[in-house]
Amino acid sequence: MLSQLLKYHRVTKIFYLRNCYPISQFNLGSCRSGILSRSVSQSLHLDMASTSKPYALGFVGLGNMGSQMARNLSVYAKLNGLPPLRLWNRTRSKTEPLAQEIYSEIVSTLEEMAEKCDIVHTCLANDEVALSLYRQFFDTKSAGTIFADHSTLYPTTATLLQREAEMAGMHYLSCPIFGPPAAAKSAQLLIVLSGDVAAKESVEQYVVPTIGKSFLDTGEEASKGAMMKLLGNNCILGTIELLSESFALAEKSGFESGLFYEFIRMRIPLPLCQIWF
Ligand SMILES: NC(=O)c1ccc[n+]([C@@H]2O[C@H](COP(=O)([O-])OP(=O)(O)OC[C@H]3O[C@@H](n4cnc5c(N)ncnc54)[C@H](OP(=O)(O)O)[C@@H]3O)[C@@H](O)[C@H]2O)c1
Repeated sequence: MLSQLLKYHRVTKIFYLRNCYPISQFNLGSCRSGILSRSVSQSLHLDMASTSKPYALGFVGLGNMGSQMARNLSVYAKLNGLPPLRLWNRTRSKTEPLAQEIYSEIVSTLEEMAEKCDIVHTCLANDEVALSLYRQFFDTKSAGTIFADHSTLYPTTATLLQREAEMAGMHYLSCPIFGPPAAAKSAQLLIVLSGDVAAKESVEQYVVPTIGKSFLDTGEEASKGAMMKLLGNNCILGTIELLSESFALAEKSGFESGLFYEFIRMRIPLPLCQIWF
């Protein structure tokens, strides 16, 4: 079962990049979670009143997802009187236009990022990239730094990063995200949180509604967060497969696909079942 999930994981990563689908409509009722019910601006002002420690925030990995999340974090930093959001991306030329637009400053190295920030968010392409960048962070020995990693990684990689962070006196949180770039832009992501409790609490206080509309806490093991992402992807791929088979069967049975689509809309009105068409 696990090997099947890991295989799905590879496929869905490719699928995500090509298709950007909105699964961010999920609401997770009884889990330990936070669900956005206020407008972003209202909530940001409420947070301003309650936030006592002026965290310095940073963002590494300003791709399709990261650049949108960074925009929202910069708004949060500005409204809360925090220092400008620190930015780093492998391709610096991609960072400069963004940095001019938002409340931010570019840092030149990962070392500078770790030293200047209390909390660093990352959103990286894959496991290899995450391992490589994080090992550079851990070498800086910036004790106490919290890393909130939104990359989609294997659970084993998340475990490794959590252990290596602990050895360096830092905190690694696996915080994978559900939702396409459009949801990242409008802060409608579902964010999974996993890792040590105190570090999670620091991040929890602002991620909703700053970058997402809800979060789900999967416990203290970072691997659990990464695994939840695989399980989520598994549900999505399974749903696609089921719908594809059902459409093929409907057509072979003489139904117009439009009619069968109407049936799906009426009988199974889940966003997940309808966004593909
Ligand atoms: N796109 C989605 O719909 C979606 C949804 C949920 C989760 N995710 C997850 O979010 C993560 C990022 O996805 P994305 O769509 O934002 O991908 P992306 O646009 O390709 O961005 C990837 C980021 O990783 C950086 N990177 C790649 N190789 C690197 C290297 N060797 N060294 C340093 N940095 C490197 C890129 O830097 P450069 O700019 O220099 O290339 C870029 O900042 C992935 O783990 C993905 O699975 C994506």
